[in-house]
Amino acid sequence: MGLQNRNLISTLDFSIDEQDEILTLAEKMMSAPKEYGHLLGGRIMASLFFEPSTRTRLSFESAILRLGGQVIGFSEAGSSSAVKGESLSDTIRMVTQYADIIVMRHPKEGAANIAATVSGVPVINAGDGGHEHPTQTLTDLLTIRSLKKHTDNLVVGCCGDLKFGRTVHSLVKNISRYNGVSFVFASPDELRIPQFLRTFLDSSGVKYIETDRMDENIAEMDVLYMTRVQRERFFNEEDYIRLKDLFILDLNKLKHAKDDMCILHPLPRVNEIAYEVDNDRRAAYFYQAGCGVYARMALMAKLLGAVQREEQKWTL
Ligand code: CP
Repeated sequence: MGLQNRNLISTLDFSIDEQDEILTLAEKMMSAPKEYGHLLGGRIMASLFFEPSTRTRLSFESAILRLGGQVIGFSEAGSSSAVKGESLSDTIRMVTQYADIIVMRHPKEGAANIAATVSGVPVINAGDGGHEHPTQTLTDLLTIRSLKKHTDNLVVGCCGDLKFGRTVHSLVKNISRYNGVSFVFASPDELRIPQFLRTFLDSSGVKYIETDRMDENIAEMDVLYMTRVQRERFFNEEDYIRLKDLFILDLNKLKHAKDDMCILHPLPRVNEIAYEVDNDRRAAYFYQAGCGVYARMALMAKLLGAVQREEQKWTL
C-alpha cells in the first residue's frame, strides 16, 4: 500500500514494517540532517493547534523547515475562525487548498479522525484529547531504538497518570506489538490504565502488572516512562491536588534501577521528576524531545512521497 498520502490518526495505523521504515529513515536523517535539506522544498505544512503545545508544534515546524518546506497555521483556537463558530470540517476543507499536509492538535477525542475524512491531503494527529498522540510514540520509539538498540524483550514501566495520559495509551498499544515486551503500570488507584487498554493487552496475550508503588518493580525495568498528572482533563481541582504529588521520581528511588535503564517523559514536566535526576546518565527526556524532530521529518517525508523520489535519484 505504501505510506504516501496516508494519514496518521491512531498509533496502530501503520504496520510494524511501515513504522520501522519511518524510524530507519529518521535514524539516517539524525546522522546526516543536511543531506535532506531540500527534500520537501516547495511543500507547505499547515500547523493547526487548537490546544497548547511546545514540543509537538515546534518540532513539527522545525522538521518541515529542516526539510526545506514552509509552515502556515495557528497556535491557539482563539486566533482561528473556530471562535466565530466555524466547524472543524469546514476549516479542514479550506486548509486542504492551502497546504500539502495538515498537522492538528485538538482537545476533542476523535477530532483528527473527522479531519481526515474531509481532507484532501494527509492529516497527522498531533494529539486528540485524552485519546492518542501517535507522533509522540514515533518519537519514543526512535529514542528507545537509539539508546537500547532494539525494541524487543523490554520491560517498560509506565508511571503517573495512566488514565488520561494519551502518550501512554499510544505507546503501550504500539510497543506491545514487538516481541516479548511487558509492562509495569505504576499509578494511584484513581489513575490506573483505562479498561480499553487492559482489554487490548489481554486479547494480545501481553504480560503486565499494575501497582500503586512506583519503586516496587524498578529493578526489572529497561525503560521508565514517567508522565505528569493531566490537570486539564480532571473534572475537579480537589482530585488533581490530592493526586498530583503522589509519584515523584528522585535519585533515592533510582538506587535499585538498572545502570542502562532509560528514563523517558513526553514532557512537559511539572514536578514528577525531581531536578536532581536530570544529571543522572539514565535521564533521556531532553534527548527524547530532540528525537521528535527527526521522527517527524521522516514521517512527513514518507507521507508526502518525497523520499522514494530522492532515493531513486540518488541511486541513478
Ligand atoms: N510531548 C508533548 O506533546 O508536548 P507538548 O504538549 O509541549 O507538545
